[in-house]
Amino acid sequence: MAAFTRHVFICINERAAGDPRGCCADRGGVEVAVAFKRAIHERGLKRIVRANKAGCLDQCAAGATLVVYPEGVWYARVAVGDVEEIVEQHLIGGRPVERLVLPPEALTGIDPDAPSEPDEFSIS
Ligand code: FES
Repeated sequence: MAAFTRHVFICINERAAGDPRGCCADRGGVEVAVAFKRAIHERGLKRIVRANKAGCLDQCAAGATLVVYPEGVWYARVAVGDVEEIVEQHLIGGRPVERLVLPPEALTGIDPDAPSEPDEFSIS
């Protein structure tokens, strides 16, 4: 099994026309995902960097969205023209492309006043 150093999840979720939430598919998510896969392949990175198409990442208003792990850096309003910069600067260089980063306080589903999650969980 490959030991990926970075994993990119790109939302390609599609909703019915007229859905008020919109969707990343309508904002170029599929094309962004294809561009990531191509760029990773062209650089010979496919054994260490993985780009996966994802369903809704719950950041719909900011689409096309993606998240890079292990850092947990979120990107918003990503277009095909941004992919090369993210690959070069972040996936290879380790420095997020700040102009496209969705800051933690802007993420939906995050309550900044909530107590932090415990470090471990158990199934009992
Ligand atoms: S549709 Fe892409 S984050 Fe929800």
